[in-house]
Amino acid sequence: MSLDVLRQLEPDFWRAPSAHNTQPWVLRYQETTVEIGWDPACALPAGDPTGRDLRLSLGAFTETCLIVCADAGLAVTFHPDFSEPDRRIGHLVSAATSYVTPFTTDDVRRRMSARVAYQPGRLDDEVVGQLDELAGAGELRRLPCRVLIRPLYEADRYLFGTPPVARELRDWLRLTPRDPRYDTDGLTDRALDLSRWEALGLRAVLARQVYPALRRLGLPRILATSSSGLLDKDGEVLVLVAPPTCDRQGQVAMGRVLMRHWLLLSRLGYATHPLSQIIDAAHTRGVLARALGIDDPDRLLNVARVGRPATPVARSARRITPA
Ligand SMILES: Cc1cc2nc3c(=O)[nH]c(=O)nc-3n(C[C@H](O)[C@H](O)[C@H](O)COP(=O)(O)O)c2cc1C
Repeated sequence: MSLDVLRQLEPDFWRAPSAHNTQPWVLRYQETTVEIGWDPACALPAGDPTGRDLRLSLGAFTETCLIVCADAGLAVTFHPDFSEPDRRIGHLVSAATSYVTPFTTDDVRRRMSARVAYQPGRLDDEVVGQLDELAGAGELRRLPCRVLIRPLYEADRYLFGTPPVARELRDWLRLTPRDPRYDTDGLTDRALDLSRWEALGLRAVLARQVYPALRRLGLPRILATSSSGLLDKDGEVLVLVAPPTCDRQGQVAMGRVLMRHWLLLSRLGYATHPLSQIIDAAHTRGVLARALGIDDPDRLLNVARVGRPATPVARSARRITPA
């Protein structure tokens, strides 16, 4: 494996999705292999205290690296070697043959999260069958959107009403093109599908100086109410469920599954809008687990609205872009 060639593929690796678009991955080039690790400055200790989304994002990144390498003719495989103290998930190493995948670099480039309106309707059974085939040891469950209206409202109230979580979100919001990191990382107004006025409003109410007072005056309830229409639609939500015993390395592997699911959906003209806050808050995680008949709520990994976007979707920023 030529490490120089691999290095040139980084802009495509970086198209992997990550919670809050923090792009937490780090590639550490060694003599013949490349270690995949993470930067703690890009973790989300308040919103993602267990590191579940961090590990899913690193898994999605790993899958992206393997797909892009295979498409470039590099025979590369991944050796898992998870270490929390070393902030490492494993290594990209030379292989005898290329990674076998139905996906290409073009698929990686085209996939985007979509927070716009979706056309009404549910997934075809055939698509669901294909998703199940890609699920590995995991399980994919579906629910009508409307079942989660109340849990989403409660989860958003928790998100906006818990100061460290709201502060962390604010730190990754890029709500004006004047933000120096607008083209680099985080969540832009355009990616969040906010109008200029909505973006200005959100920026104002989350501002350091006013948030504490507005929080006491009921801001979390108002913000949660404003997003609750999202699921009052004829559509569905996908929930990725881990196998009964899934350790941290297992969650990285499930991140690879998540990426395969999102790539397949994207190739078929669908998109996803993750709603991790429903799993982040203990109460709504429990509600969702009960709705699915799952005993251990910690098996829930990801929840996302799915559908065909009804309007154009804005591309998210990346720290590393093509030259
Ligand atoms: C594990 C994981 C959790 C995510 N959770 C959320 C979420 O709760 N809400 C949301 O709007 N987007 C969520 N996203 C989507 C990211 O914000 C998105 O991937 C990132 O902004 C990059 O944009 P892109 O997917 O369009 O490339 C999540 C992504 C991952 C990988």
